[in-house]
Amino acid sequence: MPDGLKLGGGNGICQIGAMRNDIERVLIDEAVIEKRLDAMAVAIERDFPDGTLVVIILLKGALVFAADLLRRISRPLEIECLNVASYHGGTRSSGQVDFLDRHFPEVRGRHVLLLDDILDTGLTLHAVGARLREEGAAAVHAGVLLAKDKPRAVAVTVDYVGFEIGDEFVVGYGLDYQGKYRNLPFVGVLKAAAGSRSYIADPGRPFL
Ligand code: XMP
Repeated sequence: MPDGLKLGGGNGICQIGAMRNDIERVLIDEAVIEKRLDAMAVAIERDFPDGTLVVIILLKGALVFAADLLRRISRPLEIECLNVASYHGGTRSSGQVDFLDRHFPEVRGRHVLLLDDILDTGLTLHAVGARLREEGAAAVHAGVLLAKDKPRAVAVTVDYVGFEIGDEFVVGYGLDYQGKYRNLPFVGVLKAAAGSRSYIADPGRPFL
C-alpha cells in the first residue's frame, strides 16, 4: 500500500499533534459527539414529514458536523451549502451577516433543515431563516452542534441542539480560529497564547 493510504500514518498525525498543543482543554470528545449525533438523527427522522428533505449546511463551520449527522439519516435528502460570514476571522460576531453566494438554493414549498455549527448571538440563524422563509420554504427547522448559554441578540428557535456550552470561544470539529483547527476531532478551548483569551462576549465592541 502506498504510504499516503496507510491509516494513522504520514504527516497528518504530526500536524494534529501540533494543533493539539494549542488546546487548553477538550470540552467534548469525539465519542461523546458521536453518541449525541445518533440521538439527533433519530429525532430528525421522526420529526420530518415523508418526502425529500432539503438540508442547508452553513459553510464552513457546519461541514464536519453535517457530514457526520447526515450519514446517520436514512431518508432521502438533498444537500445545499450556503456561505455566510459574521465572524470575519476573529473571535466575535461582527453583528452583520453577509450572504457570500451569487445563487440561493431553490427552497419554494420545501421542508428545510438548516444546519450550523454553533448558536452564539443568533444573528446567523435568524438572518438565514428569514431569507429561507422569504424564498418560500414550506417549513424551516434549525439544528446546531453547539449552543452557547448566553442571551441572544435576536430571538431564534433551534429545534435540534447537540450540546449547550458556556460563553467561550471554541474550536475543532468544524469550528476554526483564523481558519485553523477545523479538523480536530473534538471541540476544545484554545490556550491563551493561541488566541482564545481574547474572546469578547459583548456584542458592539470591535473584534480582534
Ligand atoms: P451567531 O452569533 O450568528 O454565530 O449565532 C454563529 C456563527 O458564529 C461563529 N461562531 C464561532 N466560531 N468558535 C468558532 O469557531 C466559536 O466559539 C464561535 N461562536 C460563534 C460560527 O461561524 C457560527 O456559525
